[in-house]
Amino acid sequence: MSIPLHPDIERVLIDEATLRARVAELAAQIDRDYAGVDRLLLIGVLKGAFIFLADLARQLHVPHAVDFMAVSSYGMAAVSGAVRIVLDLREPIEGKHVMLVEDIVDSGKTLAYLHHVLASRGPASLRTCTLLRKERPEALSVPIDYLGFTIPDVWVVGYGLDYADTHRTLPYIGVLKRSVYQRA
Ligand code: IMP
Ligand code: MG
Repeated sequence: MSIPLHPDIERVLIDEATLRARVAELAAQIDRDYAGVDRLLLIGVLKGAFIFLADLARQLHVPHAVDFMAVSSYGMAAVSGAVRIVLDLREPIEGKHVMLVEDIVDSGKTLAYLHHVLASRGPASLRTCTLLRKERPEALSVPIDYLGFTIPDVWVVGYGLDYADTHRTLPYIGVLKRSVYQRA
């Protein structure tokens, strides 16, 4: 017998067991690729990446530290690339091995911008890991080194992802009903 879905959720796109298994695979891949590295700095993009980062980091064996950044987008009318840093790192990343951890790549603007900003700070290496990428042909081509899942172009929530700051802590990735965002 299954637990009834939240009434705002149309369907479960990725269930808990599938998320857990894929996160473990990503961690194993990262451990292999960073074997011998003395310290990896994981940079989570708030708020969406907090659950993914927490689960991923706890599966890693490579020694690592965690930090966070937060960005805000200038909204729908903004020109492309108009992303602003609202919370920056506490420490310089020069000479460090850095991995940017994102929840989802949609237009690609956020990841492209953050990659550009971090690359300019002189890290020893810079890679990106995103749990989800939306299938959007017009999206910017951004360098994604580790990818959990490619998903259709629908609005998803749960496992850190939100709609207007709601539904972030659902344990699965679910598709939001259209009626929820059309009434807003
Ligand atoms: P981009 O800059 O268009 O690639 O958008 C990336 C950011 O938009 C992500 O970090 C998310 O915070 C947010 N986002 C994009 N699509 C979704 C979604 O389907 N659900 C929740 N957040 C989303
Ligand atoms: Mg978000």
